[in-house]
Amino acid sequence: MPLKIETARIEKPWSIGKMGTSGLRLVQEDYNRPLFLEQFAQGVADYFVELTNMKEVAENNKTLIIGGDPRKGNADRVRRIAEIMVGNGFRVIIAKDSLASTPAMSHTIRECKAAGGIILTASHNPFTDVGIKLNMSSGAPALEETVARVHAMQNEVKSYSFVAFESALEAGQIECIDCVKLYADLLDEVLHFGAMRDALALRPGFAAAFDAMHGAAGPFAHEVFINRLGLDATILREEPREDLGGLDAHGHPLHPEPDFDYIGELIKLNATGKYDIVAAWDSDVDRRLDGGKGFFIESADEFALFSKYAELIGVEKLFPHEIYFGRSTVTAGTIDLMQGYLEKKFPKHTVHAVETPTGFKWIAELGNWGVEESNGVGNPYIREKDGIFATAFLLKILLETGKTVQELMEGVWKEFGRVFFTRGEVSGSDENEKTLLTSILKDAAKYVGGTYSTLKLEKAGSWDYIHPKTKQAADTACAFFLQFSEGNTIKARFSGTGSGGYTLRVYCTKYDTQFARPKSPVTQPMKDAFDAFLAGAGFSGKSKKYTDANQPDPYTG
Ligand code: G1P
Ligand code: ZN
Repeated sequence: MPLKIETARIEKPWSIGKMGTSGLRLVQEDYNRPLFLEQFAQGVADYFVELTNMKEVAENNKTLIIGGDPRKGNADRVRRIAEIMVGNGFRVIIAKDSLASTPAMSHTIRECKAAGGIILTASHNPFTDVGIKLNMSSGAPALEETVARVHAMQNEVKSYSFVAFESALEAGQIECIDCVKLYADLLDEVLHFGAMRDALALRPGFAAAFDAMHGAAGPFAHEVFINRLGLDATILREEPREDLGGLDAHGHPLHPEPDFDYIGELIKLNATGKYDIVAAWDSDVDRRLDGGKGFFIESADEFALFSKYAELIGVEKLFPHEIYFGRSTVTAGTIDLMQGYLEKKFPKHTVHAVETPTGFKWIAELGNWGVEESNGVGNPYIREKDGIFATAFLLKILLETGKTVQELMEGVWKEFGRVFFTRGEVSGSDENEKTLLTSILKDAAKYVGGTYSTLKLEKAGSWDYIHPKTKQAADTACAFFLQFSEGNTIKARFSGTGSGGYTLRVYCTKYDTQFARPKSPVTQPMKDAFDAFLAGAGFSGKSKKYTDANQPDPYTG
């Protein structure tokens, strides 16, 4: 029986915003406005119709993958979007139970050779927010040109087409796929689970504690660490829940984000020193916080450690000629310190340590490996950052070396030095305040020579991305930088993932060979200098905070 395609008018189309650092994030109420989702999805369908009709696009197979995190409303949204995609001529593959991590979606798109994927997640934002992002046939997140085209098309939509879910399912135009299994198979291939199981058998008492934060991580972690690796693992908050953990004691929604504010139980477990490896992951499982035996590690440091042991996952075979070790410009440059070491390690390759704009899409697009400061470590076998992969790779290194997490990290810092890093933010809801901040940062060069608190401003400007392969300058605002004396560097940029107001993210870094000391005394002079700089330039916004307390600081406490 031919599919019955229905078309309905959208009498009053919405003005739909442009996707930011990682998709379009809005509060639930905005996504739930009548016909908003339909208009959004129809615009995406129009884009993929245009793309897959173009002769030069090889992936004109008209298949799209849909899935996401368990947040409120997502299961219904997945069905609705699927109906609309089928109504526009696509075959749709839905993640089983609508549930897939962002990295598993990236892998599934690649495995199914799909034209792209629609990922429903607002990542680490609470369940009160909704987000939708697009990944392309390579498995990588959509870049600016796509985002702009989709945005334009979404705002031209006047009607939408759909096929009723059940009849599309019956006709085979909608299928279900077990992303958990597919993903665990990939990790098995890359990390050799058989060898890891053998190593674990020789380590009785080896224990793990994980926090799945009631996001999408639970089923993935259970399959990988318990079913396949046979690890003795406690998984806190394993069950995916639509409220992602619900409200805290003050009635505020919990953030499914692996930073210290939200993983109290795991911190307690790690502090006992009984667990060889611990980890927490955000709602769509692309962020991770790993550690073990009382120690937690930052993503930039973990990536340096992973690069040191890169041969364990066959990186030199995966990338035959060139290896790009990417990091977003605001991520601590630990990997840069290793350039010489990596060149020696991979003598047959050209090794590049590159800086990209913020947003993993810039790293993914290079088709290589990378890290960003917000707890995101890439998986070189897909095109996303990947929480479970990072934890499983750390586990492999622990088993291969017999060292603890702390010993491993100290080995890296001893050899290459440590980049002390902290992130802060200035936030508010007043647009004038944001305009003032922007103009101060744009004009920061005129303050060079001045002393702010204890540091002298030596250089200031903006960091712009020159693509390492095409050598083209990116058409995107990247970051402002303030270079103070004694190697104290600040970068700042506006957040692109919020659902209201503005947030200027402020990143402080300083290199030092004396690694075994608390972070705050090293970063405090930078924070003071930045605050003094803003005050001196006439900015009086009050809401400034630095988030050291949320981030690993292994030599305190
Ligand atoms: C934040 C992080 C950034 C990350 C993004 C998506 O974006 O800072 O590193 O890529 O979430 O996970 P921001 O809000 O700063 O734009
Ligand atoms: Zn995420």
